[in-house]
Amino acid sequence: MRKKIICINDGKLSEFKLHSIWLRERLNGSEFIDQNNLQRLYEPSLLDDNLLINTHSVDENILNVEFSDGAKGSYNIDDLYNDIKNIDVIPEKKLWDINNHNLEIFDNNKIFENDDELIKMLKVFYQYGYVIIKNTKAEENEVINFAEKLGPVRSTNFGKLFNVVSKPNPNDLAYTALELTSHSDNPYRKPVPGIQLLHCIANESTGGDSSLVDGFSLANFLKQNQPEFYEVLTKTNVTFKFTDIDTILVDEAKLIELDHYNNFRQIRFSGRLDYVPLLDENNLDLYYKARKYMFKLCNSDDFKIKFRLSKGMIAMFDNLRLLHGRTKFDPNTGFRHLQGCYIDHDVTEGKLRKLLKS
Ligand SMILES: [Fe+2]
Repeated sequence: MRKKIICINDGKLSEFKLHSIWLRERLNGSEFIDQNNLQRLYEPSLLDDNLLINTHSVDENILNVEFSDGAKGSYNIDDLYNDIKNIDVIPEKKLWDINNHNLEIFDNNKIFENDDELIKMLKVFYQYGYVIIKNTKAEENEVINFAEKLGPVRSTNFGKLFNVVSKPNPNDLAYTALELTSHSDNPYRKPVPGIQLLHCIANESTGGDSSLVDGFSLANFLKQNQPEFYEVLTKTNVTFKFTDIDTILVDEAKLIELDHYNNFRQIRFSGRLDYVPLLDENNLDLYYKARKYMFKLCNSDDFKIKFRLSKGMIAMFDNLRLLHGRTKFDPNTGFRHLQGCYIDHDVTEGKLRKLLKS
């Protein structure tokens, strides 16, 4: 009997109602899909609104379907299930256990030697939001060489790479010897750079130790323990602004941004660049209390992992999830020079998916 909706009574798909057009536009035969790029060879918007399923049958893990427009084909039931459940190969984020956390360090001499080690590194990166890579050359431009083994680098008005070194008249406080409290980079950009790589060429000064904080764990803590603060930080739009001699960059966003499912998506925190609008007194009082509380958490040892980058090491971290900081250093005690660059999540996600599916 011809139907618009079919139900498969047994197995993985038994809880779902499968719509004719939903199935029809997933036909993957060569007459429907270009087999090189897996893009449709037709406009799915032009399919018949009243398309029906003439017949269907299940043969072990394969669903066979014939449609009323004459098209027919087969589906792997596991693939349909993963599609329905939106199951991705990118690992889910793990909350940090700060008291039992070993720094995630990978060896540059191994990660490009075989795919298994690179897969392992990228999986850890998505689970914990960062990896440290050791044994890179302590030379200028090495951060670009490393990043480009993963994919394209994102240039900004700072250039393709930026030098973190104490210099006169800096256009960013990163280029001083001051302490940098926990922050995310460039919250004023559209979009914010996804991943930062910081490469240590020299770190001989007194001070200049690094730290990372997991915004995902922090947001989870706020949600559990300070729901009123969590609410205001996830609802209040804040303006972030960068100004220098060449440009003025502005964006507006929440300090903690949630996705469509109300799960953590992104943290933006840079107390030197944020400007809340003139809300009424009660809302501003609450916002300022919440931001102060968040600042304390961000800079508390309860949320921070601390380490020292030594020459030849790269810290690669998710700038949408983690905050980073450094202690002040004394440039008179030794030379400190880091170089950094940004890449987008397209690079690492795309590479990991490809490695896991090939
Ligand atoms: Fe930074």
